[in-house]
Amino acid sequence: MHTQSDRYPPISPKCPHMLHGGDYNPDQWPTEVWAEDMRLMKAAGCNAMSVGIFAWSRLEPQEGQYEFGWLDRIMDMLAENDAFAILATPSAARPAWLDARYPECCKVTAEGQRRDHGMRHNFCWSSPAFREKVTAINTRLAERYGTHPALLMWHVSNEYGGEGSGAPCYCELCQAWFRDWLRDRYDNDIETLNHAWWTAFWSSRYESFDQIDAPGPLGERAIHGLTLDWKRFNTHQAIDFYRHETSTLKRITPDVSCTTNFMWAFEPQDYWQWANEVDIVSWDGYPGWHCRGDDVREAAGAAFNHDLFRSLKAGRPFMLMESVPSVTSWFPVCKLKRPGMHKLSSLLAIAHGSDTVQYFQWRKSRGATEKFFGAVVDHVGHEDTRVFGDVAELGRVLKKLDGVVGTTVRSEVAVLFDWPTRWAVSAMSGLGHRHRNYLGTCMQHHAAFWTMGIGVDVIDQTVALDEYRLAVLPMLYMLRPGMAEKIERFVADGGTAVMTYWSGIVDEHDLCHLGGWPGGGLRKVFGVWDEETDAICEDDVQRLVLSEGNELGLAGEYEIHQLCALIHAEGATVAGTYGEDFYAGRPALTVNHYGDGKAWYVAARTGQDFLDDLYGRLASDLGLRRTLDATLPQGVTARMRTNGETDYVFVMNFTDAVAGVDLGETTFADVVNGGEVAGRLALPAYGVAILSRPAVEA
Ligand code: GLA
Ligand code: ZN
Repeated sequence: MHTQSDRYPPISPKCPHMLHGGDYNPDQWPTEVWAEDMRLMKAAGCNAMSVGIFAWSRLEPQEGQYEFGWLDRIMDMLAENDAFAILATPSAARPAWLDARYPECCKVTAEGQRRDHGMRHNFCWSSPAFREKVTAINTRLAERYGTHPALLMWHVSNEYGGEGSGAPCYCELCQAWFRDWLRDRYDNDIETLNHAWWTAFWSSRYESFDQIDAPGPLGERAIHGLTLDWKRFNTHQAIDFYRHETSTLKRITPDVSCTTNFMWAFEPQDYWQWANEVDIVSWDGYPGWHCRGDDVREAAGAAFNHDLFRSLKAGRPFMLMESVPSVTSWFPVCKLKRPGMHKLSSLLAIAHGSDTVQYFQWRKSRGATEKFFGAVVDHVGHEDTRVFGDVAELGRVLKKLDGVVGTTVRSEVAVLFDWPTRWAVSAMSGLGHRHRNYLGTCMQHHAAFWTMGIGVDVIDQTVALDEYRLAVLPMLYMLRPGMAEKIERFVADGGTAVMTYWSGIVDEHDLCHLGGWPGGGLRKVFGVWDEETDAICEDDVQRLVLSEGNELGLAGEYEIHQLCALIHAEGATVAGTYGEDFYAGRPALTVNHYGDGKAWYVAARTGQDFLDDLYGRLASDLGLRRTLDATLPQGVTARMRTNGETDYVFVMNFTDAVAGVDLGETTFADVVNGGEVAGRLALPAYGVAILSRPAVEA
């Protein structure tokens, strides 16, 4: 939640505009191509290129022998062409000489096997030799380019932990570091750890920290406390490595911002732990347009990520560091973006708080694994392509959005999505593998607000709830210290909370709460005791039957799938009951008036239909601010960025048909085309309009 009325500074003071560009690999191309690249960048309206991400072997072809001439030239050429470099540290991919001379740089697998040289992102976080070599090259880059006019910011490494789904390193150094981290976490007391991990189970008790190994296929996998702490430690290691890289950059170039590019709600790294580490949040988004079901759901999924990455820094604009101008080559089906989708999907990011649209990749690689990955400049080599035209068109739009730079999104709603909770839900044995679906469940709840055009933040348990009016808590399985109290205060002070089945089950160590769920004191806040959970099969039928005269003012029935908690109302009012099976007639939806607020308990997993209706009613009851007053047509959403003086309204049609949108009484300015827009807005298939109005305060 953000309430300030001024705007955030631009990503870099050097360029107070929307950034547009992408990963540029001149190190793969002969020098003759570079001048043409510059011409084409101008033609595409690009102003910021990520350079040198995987260029270590060109920068240091032999140990200690540096070749910066080519990068000098590129930096100069960018500056001469009014463009900037998001300059990378090259640690993401290692030159052959490095691994040959220092094999300890290569990661060790869970089976204990040292990996061979090759690929990328697969280094050991601990290796002293690797850290030393990274410092050496980073020092030279910072010293050489720190004051170069083209240097916009640092792009530290690339997608930390990215290859092999974040497989950690299991070498002896990393394991020893893990043991030290555990000593620190458990006050050097092995009995504290034994209790937290419940090691009386299966004779798992440790006598000393030295006996602990990382969990893995050849060893311990049954102790969830160990699994969770190993996950936490993996984030700690990556952050420590980031600090190692940035300590050099910060020493030499203290005024240049640093970022590292995050990935789509990436399971192995708790990005909330990263929030204060990076100066600017950036992430790489590759939604599967036209491929994975319908575009509206895909857009809502991308929006969930945008909202998450903006929320990491409490509303500060983030960077879309990578996206694809055409085809993502590693998709199961490599479908082309339909006309309009490039502009629409890029502006979706802007609408949610990005101040950049960056691509992977600028020029399509000629060989190797990314030679068919979408690029601004295709193998044909000129600008007369459909994709280049789409990019250039977006470039023209972005040039009109100076006013949007630094504005933010205001949200009265928070959806809680928490990494340790997610790790614990996927580690557990229970409910049924496909039934858990923590991320998908959080996304479903978020989507209800997205389709209504209501601003929503995606937060974790470390974030304060006070400034929100509605807190959505899907599957809050794990209660971290202080969370239950925070919810209690929030509701007592007048907030509305919606929590679901499978909440308040364990503590931060994954130890079950005793004495009835939801634990931690939430039983009294929600006025229910959640006794047991029925996981039902695909062809089982279950229904939510809304009670007559319920507080939502909704009537009828909704389908229930997968999970049904058998709850007892202990003070809560029953708003809906189960329709089938031995628990027919028992409560499935309740609301408890607690203090000045309300606590809803959704005991079963429903489809999107019920969530849309539930949150639609709550939004009306609470008078939550919608971007546009009128109901939006199916597949169209409206998002808003504001600086408290001007609202920028993005109306986006994710369907392949023309849509008419009712703009109500307001007359808007058309930010891109000029002129005024009022009444009914016609959006073509995959169309988008950017409108502005004097800020409407809540
Ligand atoms: C990731 C990487 C890029 C590139 C793209 C496309 O996001 O960061 O270097 O490999 O994927 O595959
Ligand atoms: Zn290691």
